[in-house]
Amino acid sequence: MSQPIVLLLSGPNLNLLGERQPEVYGTTTLEDHVVASTTVASARGLALEHVQSNHEGELVDAIHAARGRCAAIVVNPGAFTHYAWAIHDALALFDGPVVELHLSNPAAREPWRHTSVVAPVADGTVAGFGSLGYRMAIDAVASLLDG
Ligand code: DQA
Repeated sequence: MSQPIVLLLSGPNLNLLGERQPEVYGTTTLEDHVVASTTVASARGLALEHVQSNHEGELVDAIHAARGRCAAIVVNPGAFTHYAWAIHDALALFDGPVVELHLSNPAAREPWRHTSVVAPVADGTVAGFGSLGYRMAIDAVASLLDG
């Protein structure tokens, strides 16, 4: 039987992790985060798919395509976190667990980062733990799926 799929979604500028503000986001590349996430998912009996886009509509399309196909979503929406209501609305249409993920802790940064339009449609948020957060977020959705 095929394994339930966790969709890991990465928003704008996360493709540049490793070189983007390493003092804030660390030196690990997105590819390395995906490898670590895949390892945790696999240990919990889950398959992992990853989509990164710098375009809001492509993330919305990926969420729509996950409906009825993926068991859970882990999403780091990047700056879309703070204003992308279309992503909020798309996630509201998804049936399974949703975990919002941030490398940094937006609540401890500039005031405009303190609002998340994704949080109201997420089961929970993992923020401020750097690369550890990817493993925590996958573990969280796995536990939510286990009930
Ligand atoms: C981020 C936090 C956002 O405020 C920021 O715009 C990002 C990355 C994080 O992972 O810490 O692009 O989502």
